[in-house]
Amino acid sequence: MIDDIILARALHVLALVHWIGGVAFVTLVVLPLARSRALATDALALFETVERRFAAQVRVSIPLAGAAGLWMTYRLDLWARFADPHFWWMSAMLGLWLVFMLMVFVLEPLLHARFEQLAQRDPESTLRRMARLHSVLLAVAAVTLLGAVAGAHGFY
Ligand code: HEM
Repeated sequence: MIDDIILARALHVLALVHWIGGVAFVTLVVLPLARSRALATDALALFETVERRFAAQVRVSIPLAGAAGLWMTYRLDLWARFADPHFWWMSAMLGLWLVFMLMVFVLEPLLHARFEQLAQRDPESTLRRMARLHSVLLAVAAVTLLGAVAGAHGFY
């Protein structure tokens, strides 16, 4: 018989590998490569091409990660953990997920035209800001991942 909780955990991790792995690739490979281009407009074009494709894909993996996580929380009745500082990593998972959902489904579509304007006016500083934002998000995701794996396997 299929165990829905094991299946949800496997889907949760699969979606996370795609989503956070992609953020790591953009932050540690694509952005430094783009910023090494001589022309800032070329750099921005490279970043935007990769980011556009990735953004289309994470519109699937981010909701999937959240749905699987919420399903486990519901089935295992773990809601009380969100109010318990001992389980800080549960709140970190939810918080990080909410931030990305907001960025991908609300802010990006809403502010796309404004971003294009800024990028055209000052491509270099736009890329610098993008690099900083990605680094912060990746650092928070890394801490959350470490905390969640350790916490889910009884470290605390
Ligand atoms: C709506 C958002 C999320 C919810 C409700 C959620 C919920 C859960 C639950 C209930 C578990 C199982 C905990 C246990 O077995 O004790 C879990 C495991 C895990 N979650 Fe999340 N999660 C969410 C988002 C995230 C995010 C954004 C990350 C990473 C950045 C993440 C990383 C992990 C990891 C690494 C595990 C451990 C998997 C394992 O080794 O078994 N989760 N999550």
